[in-house]
Amino acid sequence: MSLRIGDIAPDFTQDSTEGPIHFHAWLGQHWGVLFSHPKDFTPVCTTELGVTAKLNAAFAQRDVKVLAVSVDSVDSHHRWVGDIAETQGQAVNFPILGDPDRKVADLYGMIHPNANDTLTVRSVFFIDPNKKIRALITYPASTGRNFDEILRVIDSLQLTDTHRVATPANWQFGQDVIIAPALTDPAELKEKFPQGFKTLKPYLRLVSQPK
Ligand code: BEZ
Repeated sequence: MSLRIGDIAPDFTQDSTEGPIHFHAWLGQHWGVLFSHPKDFTPVCTTELGVTAKLNAAFAQRDVKVLAVSVDSVDSHHRWVGDIAETQGQAVNFPILGDPDRKVADLYGMIHPNANDTLTVRSVFFIDPNKKIRALITYPASTGRNFDEILRVIDSLQLTDTHRVATPANWQFGQDVIIAPALTDPAELKEKFPQGFKTLKPYLRLVSQPK
């Protein structure tokens, strides 16, 4: 059965460009983003890994560890990262798992046989410090992912974990958010949002983003 939001991210041990990774221990108490690449030495993946490397500080600022996986060997990854640095102007600064036995790809359902029997699709698993899968994104091999969107999802997850709010369509960090519909007690509303809020409908109340 495929993995769903709320499931515990399966643990594994697998070799990577930075040595063996025991996944849960490697995550520790941090957030994680595990994302798959169909194959080494392919153009879209090359751009994706370059962009992720450039955003590594933005992920770290959010306490997120990033981990890529591709079904080729670690030796192949080592040869490929040279191309990525050369063409993308940025060295890869996070581990890439080797997965020639497809252990991780199978564990996470990253191969969709009706798309391709051997290559993974572009999966992204957002994992919280309790090792719970909090969001999933899946794209076909031909569509490169938007890594600003991945950061935006992290921002939403972390904000809504600490405040009783939800984030509206196209929300960007710093913009108004929605008060959780379940929060109706007037005293609690006043205590949580002393600055006041705008009621467009009883179920649609906007408030400035909590700090
Ligand atoms: C790519 O990364 O460019 C790619 C990989 C597999 C199939 C199609 C494109």
